[in-house]
Amino acid sequence: MGSSAFTLVLVLALVACITSAERKCQLSGLWRNEQDSLMEISAVRDNGDFQGKYLTRVTLTGGCAHASPLKGAQQQCSEGIWPTFAFTVRWDKFSNATTAFTGQCFVDKGGKETLTTMWLLREAVGSLEEDWKATRVGRNIFTRKRTPKGKTLLSLSPSCEDATSPAP
Ligand code: BTN
Repeated sequence: MGSSAFTLVLVLALVACITSAERKCQLSGLWRNEQDSLMEISAVRDNGDFQGKYLTRVTLTGGCAHASPLKGAQQQCSEGIWPTFAFTVRWDKFSNATTAFTGQCFVDKGGKETLTTMWLLREAVGSLEEDWKATRVGRNIFTRKRTPKGKTLLSLSPSCEDATSPAP
């Protein structure tokens, strides 16, 4: 192989490498779904485990939600395949329900990241006879929410206490 052909191969390999790195999906950060719920995922560990907080905009009762803990795991990244992941949200203080999400991260040519998910929402029922109606299923699409530096999920959204406290 001539030296110019060798250089071309090297350049092409470099471009492919940079392109795939740019298009890699990072789960960490702040995300918003089409229902206007917010989710903040902290750094993903080397083994794929992650945690964060979820603030749902909609609730079963229509009442106010508290930011709730989420825990999940992401598959290892493999060449040319965007990672799948799963996480659970244990709704805290305002509900006995639990939601399990599974999904995959995608990045389009312009670098826009999208998390497509499906979820199962399990609410507590009082008896085995009511078990049949205890689980809902649905879909959520998340996109990254850009925020001013230092802003977090909690600083972006008023808490239940703030929302319900009577005017002075
Ligand atoms: C409850 O109301 O008891 C728990 C909150 C459930 C919120 C659900 S989870 C799936 C869907 N996606 C959201 O962002 N919120 C709803």
